[in-house]
Amino acid sequence: MKKSKPLYETAVMQTLNQHVSVRSFKDKPVSDEMLNAALNAARRSPTSSNMQTYSIIVVRDQEMKKKLSVLAGGQRHVADCPVFIGFLADTNRVSVACQMHDQTLTDSLEMTLVSTVDATLVGMSVQTAVESFGLGAVMVGGMRNKPQAVADLLQFPSGVYMVFGMSLGWPTEDAVSGALKPRLPEPLVIHRELYSQDDPRPLIKEHDAELAVHYGNQNRNQHPAAWSGFIAKSLSSPSRSDLRPTLEGMGFRFD
Ligand SMILES: Cc1cc2nc3c(=O)[nH]c(=O)nc-3n(C[C@H](O)[C@H](O)[C@H](O)COP(=O)(O)O)c2cc1C
Repeated sequence: MKKSKPLYETAVMQTLNQHVSVRSFKDKPVSDEMLNAALNAARRSPTSSNMQTYSIIVVRDQEMKKKLSVLAGGQRHVADCPVFIGFLADTNRVSVACQMHDQTLTDSLEMTLVSTVDATLVGMSVQTAVESFGLGAVMVGGMRNKPQAVADLLQFPSGVYMVFGMSLGWPTEDAVSGALKPRLPEPLVIHRELYSQDDPRPLIKEHDAELAVHYGNQNRNQHPAAWSGFIAKSLSSPSRSDLRPTLEGMGFRFD
């Protein structure tokens, strides 16, 4: 008898359900044809009011990737990947469009959020598209460590910053052979009709234990409260505290 396909098991679902961030890559090129197919499919992503306030920058040059790797805090995969992609919030082009009609773009927090969301959506679509080809990728928020230096290096005009990057390539076997990283229990993140009033602590503890086992299996020495302990440690002191004035200097507003 023919085995029936599990319900809702589409190619997209398979790709999403197998996602794992990949940080080590084979020495094997990614063709322009394959990359362009992913980038152009991702350009079908929805965008706020059709403003398309994002840009994508593709970097293959080894010296440039090395410099970007340093700016990302020494993340080796940025230098070692065959292709690095930057996802940029870009209000420069809409500013030009305004000028074409003798108007001036009114920068605002809303424009900052819209452009950041647009860049993020297209970045997520690229990740899904490339993973569907069997490529591996990891997003690189470390590109916000030094946004002005990244902008100078890649010659961004005013009104453009890199929201995050993506190291991309063919994954090494060990990068995709392990268990998927567990996620928070569903009731903590999916609320039905009203935001849940339940105490989140028991389920957070459950996740701490599950993640500790996951890290243990990878021989990664972790705090027993693997999730909440990490969160408490990393979020209790300010991170990138100069981000706002830096982005303001680059043409983004927060009011
Ligand atoms: C916006 C964003 C920025 C990220 N930045 C980094 C980064 O700078 N370096 C890194 O190694 N991983 C980075 N990651 C990957 C996350 O650490 C990863 O998605 C998370 O730990 C879950 O693991 P998984 O994707 O393998 O399931 C980033 C992910 C996102 C969504």
